[in-house]
Parts: sequence; C-alpha cells; structure tokens
Amino acid sequence: MRTDTAKPVRLKDYRVPDYLIGKADLDVKLHPSATRVGVRLAIRPNPRGCPNAALVLDGDGLTAKRIALDGQVLDLQKTAAWNGFITPDALTLNAPPQRPFILEVETEIDPSANTQLMGLYRSGSAYCTQCEAEGFRRITYFLDRPDVLSVYTVRLEAEIGEAPLLLSNGNKIASGKIGGTTRHFAIWHDPYPKPCYLFALVGGGLGSIFGDFTTRSGRKVKLGIHVEHGKEPQAAYAMDALKRAMKWDERVYGREYDLDIFNIVAVSHFNMGAMENKGLNIFNDKYVLASPATATDTDYAHIEAVIAHEYFHNWTGNRITCRDWFQLCLKEGLTVFRDHAFSADMRSAPVRRIGDVRTLRAQQFSEDAGPLAHNVRPETYMEINNFYTSTVYEKGAEIIRMLKVLIGDDAFYKGMDLYFARYDGTAATIEDFIACFADIAGRDLTQFSRWYSQAGTPLLEVASSYDADAQTFTLDLAQSCKPTPGQDKKEPFVIPIALGLVAPGAGDIPLRTGGDAGASGAELASGIIELSSPRRRITFRDVPCRPVPSLLRGFSAPVRLDYAASEADLLTLIAHDSDSFNRWQAAQTYATRLLQRSVASIRAGEAPYRDKDFLAALGTVIDTNADPAFVAQVIGLPGEADIAREIGEDVDPDAIHRAHDALAEDIGKERQETLLAAYWRLAPEEPYSPDAGPAGRRALRNAALAFVAAGDKAEGAALAMRQFESTSTMTDKFAALCVLTRITGQEREDALQAFYAAYENEPLVIDKWFALQAAIPEHGTLARVRALMQHKAFSCKNPNRLRALAGSFAAANPTQFNAGDGSGYDFIAGLVLDLDVKNPQVAARLLSAFKSWWILEPQRRSLAGAALQRVACAASLSADVKDIAERSLAH
Ligand code: BES
Ligand code: ZN
Repeated sequence: MRTDTAKPVRLKDYRVPDYLIGKADLDVKLHPSATRVGVRLAIRPNPRGCPNAALVLDGDGLTAKRIALDGQVLDLQKTAAWNGFITPDALTLNAPPQRPFILEVETEIDPSANTQLMGLYRSGSAYCTQCEAEGFRRITYFLDRPDVLSVYTVRLEAEIGEAPLLLSNGNKIASGKIGGTTRHFAIWHDPYPKPCYLFALVGGGLGSIFGDFTTRSGRKVKLGIHVEHGKEPQAAYAMDALKRAMKWDERVYGREYDLDIFNIVAVSHFNMGAMENKGLNIFNDKYVLASPATATDTDYAHIEAVIAHEYFHNWTGNRITCRDWFQLCLKEGLTVFRDHAFSADMRSAPVRRIGDVRTLRAQQFSEDAGPLAHNVRPETYMEINNFYTSTVYEKGAEIIRMLKVLIGDDAFYKGMDLYFARYDGTAATIEDFIACFADIAGRDLTQFSRWYSQAGTPLLEVASSYDADAQTFTLDLAQSCKPTPGQDKKEPFVIPIALGLVAPGAGDIPLRTGGDAGASGAELASGIIELSSPRRRITFRDVPCRPVPSLLRGFSAPVRLDYAASEADLLTLIAHDSDSFNRWQAAQTYATRLLQRSVASIRAGEAPYRDKDFLAALGTVIDTNADPAFVAQVIGLPGEADIAREIGEDVDPDAIHRAHDALAEDIGKERQETLLAAYWRLAPEEPYSPDAGPAGRRALRNAALAFVAAGDKAEGAALAMRQFESTSTMTDKFAALCVLTRITGQEREDALQAFYAAYENEPLVIDKWFALQAAIPEHGTLARVRALMQHKAFSCKNPNRLRALAGSFAAANPTQFNAGDGSGYDFIAGLVLDLDVKNPQVAARLLSAFKSWWILEPQRRSLAGAALQRVACAASLSADVKDIAERSLAH
C-alpha cells in the first residue's frame, strides 16, 4: 500500500536497471510475529545502465536490523556516514561501489500481522508467500522488478513442531536438525535465474501426496502436492491433471520440466487463484482439492485448467519472463492461450470454446465497453495489481489465437520455438515475441500489433446481397471501434474472419471469387478472410442459391458482430452449420434478440415477447444425438448481464430479469415433455467420473431440471428435492439446491439448512452455500447476506469466503446489487472501505463490480455513481481502491 507515492508508472519511461543482482542468498528464520530475513546480495553495476547511479532497493513497510557492505557493518543511525538512506519503503546507497560488491541486509517481519496476503503471511498455521507482482519488497529490500534475474539459495529454519515441512524454489540441497534444539533447517537452490516475483517459501505441517514423472528425455521428476492434513485424498485429481499437463507441454510445444522436483502447496488464504513460483506453485486450495462428494464438474474442470496454467508458466513466464509489468500479457495472455488449448484437448474442443467465449464476453467485453477499458498492453498504471484483468488475460489469449489462425499452425509452432530459442533465460517484450512470428511467417505484423495498443471491442458490421441471375453472393464488411478512455481515434485492426456459406440442407458451398471484389487464394483455401481496412467487399461466384453466411466461425476474432440475419437464417445455422460454435452462436443470437424484445415490451407495460419457432428449435436440439455437453450450451440462455451489455444503455435490471424468467418459463412449459424425457434418459452412471463425457450428461440433465422447474414450480421442486436427497455427488446435489433456492418457501430454507449441516466441515462447499444464497434474486437477499456475514463459518479475513458472499452478491445478483433504492451499492461500497484497510487487493477487485455502472438507467446510475464517489472521497485509501474508484468515475 503506497498511497503517498501516487505517481503513475509509464511504459515510455522504462530504463534498464543500473545495477544487477546475480545471486541472492536468503536465510529465513520463521517465527509467527518476528521472522528474521537475512539476505546476501551479489550486486554489480549494469554495463548497460547509468554509471555512478544511486542504488535504490525497494521495500514496503520494512525494518532493517543490520546492513553490511562487503562485510563492513554500516551504522543504521548514521546513514550520512555511508552516504545512504533507509526508510520502510527504500534502502538507498547514493554512491555504491562501481564494481561487484556484496550487500547484506537483515530485516524483521511479522507474518501473523500480514492481512494483505502479500509477501510472507500465514494461512492458518502455515507460513507462505505471494510475491507477484510487488510482494517480495515486503520480505526484504530488493530490486523488485521483473528484469532483474538472480540465482537464489534459500536457507529456511523453523521449530520442527511448528513447520515440519520447509519448501522453497528449486532443488533441496541440504536439510537436518539443529543440534541441541527443537529446530531444523532446509536449504533450497534454484539454478535458474529468476525475478524476485517468482520467489516462494512455505513452512508448516501439511499432508503430502507424491508422484513421479519421467520427462521424454528421461529426467525423473518428483511431484509433491501438499495440503491440509486429512485432505490428501482430495489432491489426487490435481496430481493427475499435473501429469497430463506435463505430458501435453512436451507433446505440443516440446517443452520439458527442468528441475528434479515440482511442488504444489494448497493454502486456504489466497488473494488469487494460484501462483507459478519456480518449482513451488502456491494455490488457493479451491483449485487443488476435489472429491465427488465436495466438488462439482465445473470445479474439476477449473482445477485441471489452473494446474495446467501455472505449470505452463514454467516456460511462458519463468524461463522467459517479462521485461516490465506492462508486458504482463506476454506471460499471462500466452499462458491462458496454452491452458485453453490444453483443456480443449482434454475435453470437447467446441464446448470449451463456447465456455471460453462466454467468459470473454461476460468479463472482457464489459470491461472494454466501460470506464476501466485499457490496452492489452497498458501504457500507464497507478497500481499494477489492478491490471490482472480479463483484458490482459482473456483478450491477450485471443490475440495469440488470432495470430495462429492468421499464420497457420506450422508457422505458429515454429515461431514459438524461435521465441524459446531467442529469449530463454531473459526478460522479454511483446515486440520480441511478435518479431519471432513475423520472422518465421515472413510477414509484417505491425498492424496486427494494434490489438495490443488499442483498447475497445471492434464492431464488425456485415451486410450481404444475393444475385440469383449472376449466382453471386456479396459480403460488405466494415469495422469500427468506439473511443475508450484516453483513445478517441482508432486505427483499423487486422480481423481474421473464419467464414462459411451454408446452403440450407446442403452443407457448405465451396468458396470461389473473381474480379476486383475477390479474395486471395490463401483466403479461399483456408476460409479465413482478413479484414485490415475499414471496409471490404467480397463477391463470391458460382453460388447456386442464396446461402446463409456463417461468420466468425469458432469466434475467430474478439469482436462484436452486427449482421442482420433473419430468424429463418438463424434457425438454418442452428440446425445445419458445420461449425458447432456458430450453431451455438445462432441460438444465442436468437435468444438475445428475443430477450431484448421482451425487455422492451415489459418496459412498455406489455407482456413479454414470445416466439414459438425458437422453442421448437430448442426442442429439436434437445432431441438430437449431439454431445449432451454441447446441447446444454445451446439451450443455455444468455445471462442477464449479457442482455444488459447488448442493450448497452438505459439498462433496467429488473426488466431484464423478468424477461429472462419469462423465457425460461416458456421453455419449461412448452417443452416439458422433451425436457423430462432428457432428464430421465440422462440418469447418472455409477461410479462418478469427472471426465467430459459424464460431466456433459449431468450438465444437460441439470439444465433440463432447471427449465422444468422454471415452467412448473411444483413439478420442478419435487424433482429437485428427490435429486437433492438421493444423490451423493456434489454436481447433482448443488444443481438441485440451486433449483430449490429459486423457489420461495420453507422447502428452500430446509434444504439450505440440510446442506449446511451436511458440509459444515468443508469450507469450500460452504462457499457454494454462501454464494448461492447471495445470488437469490429477491428483495430479502441483502438482509440475508448481512446476516450471513455474522455466521460462524464466515470470515472477512478469508478471501474465498468474502468472494463467495459479497463477490457473488455484487457479480451474480444483478437485481439486488442494482436494487432501485441503491442499498446494494451502499452495501458493497461500505464493505470495500472496511476491507481496504486489511486487504486492498481484494477490496479493489470487489469494487470493480461497478465496472458497467454507466449503462444503467438514470436513477440507478446516479445512485451507483454516488456510492463510487463515497469510496473515492474516503480518507486514506489504498492505491488499489483509489485507482479503481477514480478510473470508474472518470468517463
Ligand atoms: N501469475 C498469476 C497469479 C497472480 C495474479 C499473481 C495476480 C499476482 C497477481 C497466475 O499465473 C494466474 O494467472 N492465476 C490466475 C488463474 C489462471 C488459471 C488464469 C488467478 O490467480 O486467477
Ligand atoms: Zn498466469
């Protein structure tokens, strides 16, 4: 928290470090409130830096106990004598030696008092660290920037009883008891130079499971996953996922693991999802622990993805790291891209793609359309923690996906190999990365790189015309992009448009063009049309009948598409498109249109809009033999936030909610028979397996159950109650509970009670219980949430509990967060202020729930604005919350 130094950091001000730290030897004596950290740094002037510059080591709330320069102890009281300066936030040597020298510093820190969960802190009785982005400076003074790479040797010492397990990065080179005491030590050495944000240590009493992996070159790697005692069996799936991820990275990218040991530690107190520290990943336990009785299919899928993500960072992030934090997408966007591809390979690729695009639109499109919009590579920041966003992550991944589509698989993997060859062991930039692909593909990627430097979601407008006599079909493509904060004018992007022309009932028409308005041979062969100018016209010839264009297949670019397809066209695509993604998309487009019409009717005081053709199409889809997971996606309606985003202005969340409910009710009523048939047909197989096949069956079955309940409360409640009582697997139990909580009455309260009683010793399940209640779209929910904050299972100090209750209220309950009297806004604003004192990072994330406030109707908009104002004006805000509040208000 550095409120006083509120100066923006700018990309254009980047300068190489004036000093380098080749080696960092740490000696950490763990103690609950007075941990001693000794460091011995081998420092040398950077030949590329500025000679005779002052050496300024970063600190954050540190107290130095001892400093020595080349063995010479410096008097901490007489800093002038050695031409230096010490504050909690910096250690300065104004005239350091202009040759290699050794600086030793000892600090004392209090891990038990660390509520920010950055630096060294305690999770339960364990000690752990989180250093990305700037947490290492809360442990010791250092050049806390990603372009300073050092080789670490870490000696840990602790009471055996308090911390029998002592872990750090790299390989363990020594350990033992300390004679005549109750203490022991371990020494870890990591031969790979790394930035300090990848440093980690863990000490505690944990239960472990072990595994082995032999890399394809024959190196034996020991794998360890360390969890709370008694939870070891719940780590088995994570271990399996880890092995699959290791194999996949060898097979697809040719990348092997490079140390003798790979450890994962699961902790219950963690700000984020997980962290890729070299050889010692630290995880939020929700992304490690799973059993059929406590985890849903979605949880299993998340664990698989997060384990893979952090593992993949070993190459994309650790071996090649970022030059500065502006390049964050270099590691995060690329690693998300890689984990998406892994999950797609493990499961159904189209279903994964649909899920990824749903998330992209929900999170990133809304961010890009609001006051928090920023470049995938930002050019300035106040607080880097606030830039771990869906824009950097998800849009960053989409850019790489587009690159692969544009240059082809072969050039893409060759480009990746070149990137690894050129930059292994260094800190790189986006330019470095892109140049590898430009070199391999022999193609200028300057214009393509605008995806990194222009914020906002481009709009792709398409119009078509068919000439029956000439048998030609013409597409007029146009792109534009609205202004975003600080960027009024946008230059055209390079947009890859995967395209097919669907002849109703006869599949894809071969793409042929001619004349001026043509497409290149490569475009026709690949079906990928490139739009790099503001407009482009393409005329296809030999088109025997009016086709339905299937645009942006597989969601080939992260743009908004505006094409006035008729309802009949959409029905054709739902039934016949060879691209599964666009079959799903057509159903979404149809449903979105319907819902938008309904919202308009409701706001005009009329009944919701109804459409029999759509209901019939859904019924047909449910009856097909298609993959149940895919069918579940096709019948899954767009969310209320999606509708709000489509409407884009003067949004009334209540009207959207009513329209959404009315459509679900309609589907449930009109298709009850089909839905019930599917429900019974898809009865669960024993034993439980989290694999994609059975998970997909459960997804469709539970979607059917929810629709039945929407159409017929009594029938739905009875079915749901039966399922709730008879199943022992969390996916089905929780799905049933979700249905029951949407029906007001005593049954709901009884079911909630029973659920709590059954899982009160499983905090991760209790999080689901909190989240579910916080999302009930009823007037009494805020009171319920307030009451739950007093529940004995709740604690503001645990980010998972907080996100489950308050986070879910703010992000998953549009009608109550946006209650017309402003009570939801006031509640969250007040909570953000309370929380800010303890954990600014989590507080700032909670506040970003206001990211779409300006699209609301005037009354709510003014109430939300006032709540944001209240936060922005509060005294002594953290840099994190201040930054979000101010950017949210400025537009
Ligand atoms: N490097 C991040 C963890 C991180 C995030 C550290 C923010 C500091 C600040 C890690 O690799 C990551 O991206 N984790 C994600 C999950 C992942 C599967 C996208 C997370 O924690 O949400
Ligand atoms: Zn990451």
